[in-house]
Amino acid sequence: MDFWTGIETLRAQPKARISDLLANYNRTARMKAEFGPFMFDMSKTALTAEALDALLNMASGVPGRRDAMFAGDRINATEDRAVLHTALRGNRPVVVDGQDVMPGVHATLERMRDFAADVRDGTFQGQGGRITDVVNIGIGGSDLGPAMAVLALAPFHDGPRCHFVSNVDGADWEDTAKTLDPATTLVIVASKTFTTIETLTNANTARDWMADTVDDPTAQFAALSTAQDKTGAFGIDPSRVFGFEDWVGGRYSVWGPIGLSLMLAIGPGNFDAFLKGAREMDDHFRTAPLAENLPVLLALQGIWHHQVCGYPTRAVLPYDNRLSRLPAYLQQLEMESNGKSVTMAGDPLPGPAGPVVWGEPGTNGQHAFYQLIHQGKTPVPCEFMVAAMGAEPGLDHHHKLLIANCLAQSEALLKGRSHAEARALIADRFSGDELERQAAHRVFEGNRPSTTLIYPRLTPDVLGGIIALYEHRVFVEGVMLDINSFDQWGVELGKELATSLGPLVDGGDASDKDASTQALLGQLLAWRT
Ligand code: F6P
Repeated sequence: MDFWTGIETLRAQPKARISDLLANYNRTARMKAEFGPFMFDMSKTALTAEALDALLNMASGVPGRRDAMFAGDRINATEDRAVLHTALRGNRPVVVDGQDVMPGVHATLERMRDFAADVRDGTFQGQGGRITDVVNIGIGGSDLGPAMAVLALAPFHDGPRCHFVSNVDGADWEDTAKTLDPATTLVIVASKTFTTIETLTNANTARDWMADTVDDPTAQFAALSTAQDKTGAFGIDPSRVFGFEDWVGGRYSVWGPIGLSLMLAIGPGNFDAFLKGAREMDDHFRTAPLAENLPVLLALQGIWHHQVCGYPTRAVLPYDNRLSRLPAYLQQLEMESNGKSVTMAGDPLPGPAGPVVWGEPGTNGQHAFYQLIHQGKTPVPCEFMVAAMGAEPGLDHHHKLLIANCLAQSEALLKGRSHAEARALIADRFSGDELERQAAHRVFEGNRPSTTLIYPRLTPDVLGGIIALYEHRVFVEGVMLDINSFDQWGVELGKELATSLGPLVDGGDASDKDASTQALLGQLLAWRT
């Protein structure tokens, strides 16, 4: 049975209430997966054992594609590229075009370690002495991964302070630069292509800023890029350029040179642990049977909720304040990868591909948008995550509250509150029609799906495992949907039009633009004079 026929069959079947399913004594055992430091529970969804079996059958093409990816086949067919971010954290030979790529990966990693050690111990200095601050200038995959991971691993920081500038809005640079001393700052220009206008604009501004104080400004610059000719033209010495190959996609690149700021912050040893955690998840993904495979199960419940149940979005809700950039990171990972509408063959997709992904850390979100999750008309599958322990032993009472809130939310989503229960709550205050009216507002439908990922504590290896888990989840969904998860043509048109609009903001002829754009531009130009 082909994928979309299987989806239609599952769509047509009546859905059980989650609480009825949970009354089955072995459901929690069947609807969970455990691996290493992780336990993933998906028993609070309406996915039945039979539906899961059907989805597992529909995933029969995954192992072949997975093995092709790990082997270095050119599975990114529209760009004719291999997809080998796993090699950046790997320890087995991978042959591309007849050559093992691993010696090159390890040599670059070794150069990164040496440079990071030099910066951290003061061997590498700025004009004003030891480097106190690092600014990573990059955007998209050249920003979100390291920015997310540097924040996530704050308790492990023992290196220079790290800052991230991504937006072409000068406010981003200005608000960062005003806190820094150029003489003790290292600027890292992170750009796979070294052509991205936002990054180059910020890098040029940073170089001018540095030049106002420092005699040899680019001596305090490093670059992370596949385009070493361009980094040289910018003036960065090759000894501080860390290259990678086109088989690393931007949104999958935190494991190599793009992770340099993270390595500077937490040190090479902790960075190795981060890679190890991801590598262990890779090994699990490669070898575990599909029915026990964490990324596969995460993907299947994603397909269940979006393609089968038709829920348009999913929320990622880490009960971990230091994972507050994880939803933004996953937005790029999932939506840039699977926000597609044609199959590998170029035919229109018969149904939706990737859902909208969004989220915020708990408990903050509870006091903002959870209202809609509990009582809005459209169910939002929630992906909770929480650690057993926080990094602040003296504040364990905070962490207990965090855990309690996380579990309470998934329980509330599941149970809801019936009209009778709502009425009983307020029967002492209202009566008659007013009691019914007031009770209606206090009813929660319940039966709202959620999954929960738990782990002992957020350490570098656990973070590596979480990111690799989500990477492989995106991969599995992409294979099942028969789409290319590794290109991003959708962002190109906006880039082209921004280039053509640039001169018009300087007053150029806008007559070939649509009427709306002309009107907006006209008013903006009027206000600029
Ligand atoms: O937004 C499109 C994109 O190409 C992303 O895929 C990428 O992560 C980002 O721009 C940055 O690209 P680069 O690293 O080449 O500057």
